[in-house]
Amino acid sequence: MADTDAQKQENRIFPPPPDFARNATISGMDAYKAMCAEADRDYEGFWAKLAKDNLAWHKPFSKTLNESNAPFYKWFEDGQLNVSYNCLDRNLENGNADKTAIIFEADDGKVTRVTYRELHERVCKLANALKSIGIKKGDRVVIYMPMSVEGIAAMQACARIGATHSVVFGGFSAKSLQERIIDAGAVAVITADEQARGGKHLPLKAIVDEAIGMGGCDAVRNVIIYRRTGGNINLVRGRDVWLHELVDKQPASCDPEWVEAEHPLFILYTSGSTGKPKGVQHSSAGYLLWALLTMKWTFDIKPQDIFWCTADIGWVTGHTYITYGPLAAGATQIVFEGVPTYPNAGRFWDMIQKHKATIFYTAPTAIRSLIKAADADAQVHPNQYDLSSLRLLGSVGEPINPEAWMWYYRNVGRERCPVVDTFWQTETGGHMITPLPGATPLVPGSCTLPLPGIMAAVVDETGQALPNGQGGILVVKRPWPSMIRTIWGDPERFKKSYFPEELGGKTYLAGDGAVRDEKTGYFTITGRIDDVLNVSGHRMGTMEIESALVANALVAEAAVVGKPDETTGEAICAFVVLKRARPSGDEARQIAKELRDWVAKEIGPIAKPKEIRFGDNLPKTRSGKIMRRLLRVLAKGEEITQDVSTLENPAILEQLKQS
Ligand code: WTA
Repeated sequence: MADTDAQKQENRIFPPPPDFARNATISGMDAYKAMCAEADRDYEGFWAKLAKDNLAWHKPFSKTLNESNAPFYKWFEDGQLNVSYNCLDRNLENGNADKTAIIFEADDGKVTRVTYRELHERVCKLANALKSIGIKKGDRVVIYMPMSVEGIAAMQACARIGATHSVVFGGFSAKSLQERIIDAGAVAVITADEQARGGKHLPLKAIVDEAIGMGGCDAVRNVIIYRRTGGNINLVRGRDVWLHELVDKQPASCDPEWVEAEHPLFILYTSGSTGKPKGVQHSSAGYLLWALLTMKWTFDIKPQDIFWCTADIGWVTGHTYITYGPLAAGATQIVFEGVPTYPNAGRFWDMIQKHKATIFYTAPTAIRSLIKAADADAQVHPNQYDLSSLRLLGSVGEPINPEAWMWYYRNVGRERCPVVDTFWQTETGGHMITPLPGATPLVPGSCTLPLPGIMAAVVDETGQALPNGQGGILVVKRPWPSMIRTIWGDPERFKKSYFPEELGGKTYLAGDGAVRDEKTGYFTITGRIDDVLNVSGHRMGTMEIESALVANALVAEAAVVGKPDETTGEAICAFVVLKRARPSGDEARQIAKELRDWVAKEIGPIAKPKEIRFGDNLPKTRSGKIMRRLLRVLAKGEEITQDVSTLENPAILEQLKQS
């Protein structure tokens, strides 16, 4: 809330630097407004033209949008293309063959460069390798890999043969991996022996073994292993194959499999407010179109740019702004294996300086932790580095507070570079609400205005439009090409989660609250309206963490809430009732540690509660409903001012406050 209040008083405005505006893809607000007007006037025509002009089609489409089975929208449905062809072959044809596609920097600082020609060859060989073990169009392949050229190549190779990939972030546990392998019905898992991060080697293959060992992954025929560290692994005969052994004997070209526009390019699991993670299913053509267009519009990508998105390929940001967008745009990009604090917290600035990055895209959590580090040690302050190559900065994944925004703008961008605060979601495929760097006057803490063609609005619970200045829920009123197509295997949940009947069944519900500025109409995101937390830019369902906790033999009941955290945005706070008496002192500390480790094993280290409080009970209404609203107040350390007379057990609040 504090940030929203700050935002209301925010009156700093930063217009685009004139030089930037002059050369920008979308130059000035008039150009932006003209595009919005075009989309208003002829929505389908607007998108059809973009899709024709920006993608290479094997078979052109004749129908732009099919709304007959809403909300299962179809875009460009009778067209055919191949995503990997668009990202790779097209660059060979366009004179980019010898251009560097990827500057890879390993955890230990070793740099490798890969041209478009080399990347094309690697992807083709890997695609042939996948085919050689019987993987075909429509099969699902789980990718559990470190940040690497091989990880990107694995995704592209799947796209090339029409297999649907599902990347699982390397920080997820064996249990989470198993659930995803089963839900997706994966026929193969591509992994690495280990990953190298922050000077440490962490097992990946051993976790895959553990996941498959838990049972249920019957569809998995093969595990393909990229040798990254040379660490010891166990090879299962008949199932496990080394990637290099499989790839080496393959021919260097592979005809792309032409797929329908709607063919599922990937499934990416994300947390929802209830139950298990949802497999967000994306299309091929509509998704790729938006990945490419937002590279052009939001990032103003130019042939000479050195683009760097610091996300992991395990998240949607890594899909759209590492694996697909930059390659489709023929850009040169930096891919980083490691972490921002190793060997020290100047790593990002050092890499920008060394590789002459021009566009830098990272998360507010990283910025906030680097502010702290720079405050503590002047040697890792960005002012110790030559960052003059930068021309544009971006932020993604969570709200950026105005203080962090200003620091980023001043110290990293040196007041020369626009900052694009990009609001979007796994489900939206690409940016939705964001400044255009050559057009939009910036206001710290606001993601400003929707991109052309994105019909975002703030409404009340019944779908009625709210006036500017009044907070409500964020919706998108018309379908757009890169939107989620369904939840893999659960179309009903897709409808309920994103197109609820209360809003008429055709309006996309983002799950975030928003408010528009009274004068400018600028959007500010006020946070999730459901039980989803955003910890360090990672989405976590409170229910998921609660289920993990109650699965522990010691735990009777658990309720999880978020509390504001200076660095991670939100932190996980768990209120736990044990089956035994409420512990205190050392025992409480010991059990809290046990439970934290338990959650790390059940879900992954990113889901570990920062704080665990024990009570004899939880605050409940007389009908037995846990009052999470009150727990949120307690977690923040604030006084409860609400009326608690309807509680079954008001005295419990005092106990939970102290524990
Ligand atoms: C939040 C990440 C404020 C939001 C691309 C959304 C943001 C969720 C911003 C999606 C932003 C993302 N300002 N909040 N610029 N960007 N969010 O699916 O709550 O991992 O719903 O996608 O992150 O997270 P996801």
